[in-house]
Amino acid sequence: MSATYLVTGGMGCLGAWTLYHLHRQGKRAVCFDLSEDRQRLDLLLSRDEQAAITFVRGDLTDTQQVRDVFAQHAITHVIHLAALQVPFCRANPPVGAQVNVTGAVNIFEAARHTGVKHVAMASSVAVYGPPEMYAPGLLPADAPVAPRTLYGVYKVANELTAQVYWHDYGISSTVLRPYTVYGLGRDQGLTSEPTKAMLAAARGEDYTINFGGVMQFHFASDVARQFILASEQHSGGACVFNLGGEPVAVAEVARLIMAARPGVHIRTTDTVLPFPIGCDGSALRAHAAEVYATPLAAGIAATMEAAAAPPGRAHSSR
Ligand SMILES: NC(=O)c1ccc[n+]([C@@H]2O[C@H](COP(=O)([O-])OP(=O)(O)OC[C@H]3O[C@@H](n4cnc5c(N)ncnc54)[C@H](O)[C@@H]3O)[C@@H](O)[C@H]2O)c1
Repeated sequence: MSATYLVTGGMGCLGAWTLYHLHRQGKRAVCFDLSEDRQRLDLLLSRDEQAAITFVRGDLTDTQQVRDVFAQHAITHVIHLAALQVPFCRANPPVGAQVNVTGAVNIFEAARHTGVKHVAMASSVAVYGPPEMYAPGLLPADAPVAPRTLYGVYKVANELTAQVYWHDYGISSTVLRPYTVYGLGRDQGLTSEPTKAMLAAARGEDYTINFGGVMQFHFASDVARQFILASEQHSGGACVFNLGGEPVAVAEVARLIMAARPGVHIRTTDTVLPFPIGCDGSALRAHAAEVYATPLAAGIAATMEAAAAPPGRAHSSR
């Protein structure tokens, strides 16, 4: 059976990057998303290149629609990214739960009914509590979860759902918990501010990132490749991994942006988000065949260069 990759949330930031890399790797992809707005994908792939992708407009909360897309497109690999982010879950908790919790259950049910044996899925560091709950330094992977947002609660539910599908049905999973993703297409969600600052600077405009503190940053291109690998490398269980990386002050990100575009002022504030400064990623490094980690300065420079490139050619520097 030839490989066909389902990317849920393919119109989103990480989804678009995942479709981009699947295309570059010559792999067949099906995008399943409620949205038909290709603005993020257009930043990465020309419309001619996008013609190789199958687009299915569908709602993750609809059990039958999800099952149909698995069956009709003979899905073999699953990269489940579709979700509502923190502000949307806060604004409408019941819809947040339907998309983020029921949606993930629908993915596992569809896998179960169509014989798919492995799922890669996005969780988040939002499963953890605020930094004062933990000892200083990098949070160990097995630190207790204690989400302070409903979004985080829903992600915990996803991780536990994956465990049950492993124990009850033998469907394995690799769940990745990104921290702050940056790069083209990162235009919504609580931690999209650093990317907005990069794009503003690329236009020669000043910008204030509305938080400060220390966190881990992941280049969207790297995260997408990690998800593709996670969908291909069966984990023999329900595995959850932090992406890891060096914790970096948001002020340092501002400094790197200003270094890439002298004359522009990027400021940060004293607000600290309720997440630990960073989470240990050594378990992923031990498990994954490869861990993609573009240096921060290079990822920022690539994002700012790409922002100035013509549509569909923005990726040329990667
Ligand atoms: N971006 C980050 O910094 C970050 C950090 C940690 C975890 N994550 C997780 O990674 C995943 C991808 O994040 P992103 O930044 O690409 O998100 P995004 O908000 O850019 O994209 C989410 C996509 O999901 C789609 N979607 C929403 N509801 C849907 C529904 N009912 N049916 C089908 N599609 C639906 C949206 O249309 C959108 O295209 C999410 O699960 C997110 O929680 C992201």
